[in-house]
Amino acid sequence: MTKLCINIDHIATVREARKTTEPDPVSGAILAVEGGADGITAHLREDRRHINDRDILLLASYLLPLTSVLFTLEMAATEEMLDIASKIKPSLVTLVPEKRQELTTEGGLNLIDQKKYLTDYLQRLHENNLTVSIFINANKDQIKTAKDIGADFVEIHTGPYAENPNEKELLVVRESILFARSLGLKTNAGHGLNYKNIKPIAKIEEIEQLHIGHSIISKSVLVGIKTAVQEMKSLIFSSNSLC
Ligand code: PXP
Repeated sequence: MTKLCINIDHIATVREARKTTEPDPVSGAILAVEGGADGITAHLREDRRHINDRDILLLASYLLPLTSVLFTLEMAATEEMLDIASKIKPSLVTLVPEKRQELTTEGGLNLIDQKKYLTDYLQRLHENNLTVSIFINANKDQIKTAKDIGADFVEIHTGPYAENPNEKELLVVRESILFARSLGLKTNAGHGLNYKNIKPIAKIEEIEQLHIGHSIISKSVLVGIKTAVQEMKSLIFSSNSLC
């Protein structure tokens, strides 16, 4: 069964809109787990525009003792983040590209451009006993490079499918997942997934974890986070068992 990991960044986005203390993403994480989330994901950005260091510390202390729940730290491949991840020891580190001007992560990390730097960076994460995923576009050369530089997981970018949820884009995601698996990589997917486009993706049983944020947090504003998580879980579950 594919795991559902809830990206809680946008709970913190609402908090930061007023620079206050609510809503608290840590309380949101607790309720998401109660609603059946298999994992919590948070992106600590260089500019701390939503999740901050306090959130990460509290999330780690609540989530890591729960051995059945994954805590994924999304981060850029910088020295500062390597230091934080090495101290926090999340269940999974997902490396993402980061640009100050972007509204959200715009595309996968280009591994080919930074192969040497990332090989060394991953080695240092591994020396700290961290498991590493890399968010990449659905592209064979990127997947091969992820394998070459020592990634444990790849997270395939589902944004192009979310923008055009047709058979062609679905096939690109599916073939990338299968190709990564054939190289021995573990496979996650995420970005832009919502209650309308999730079912065909959830039928790809080789996806170990789906990382979903904006659509679930948006629905939570209207129906509460537990219900929003439960509804997404049941869509994933019903699609998985159709295969
Ligand atoms: N996966 C990665 C690597 C991301 O950067 C994000 C967005 O923060 C997500 C998944 C979740 O995307 P969305 O908020 O569109 O569901």
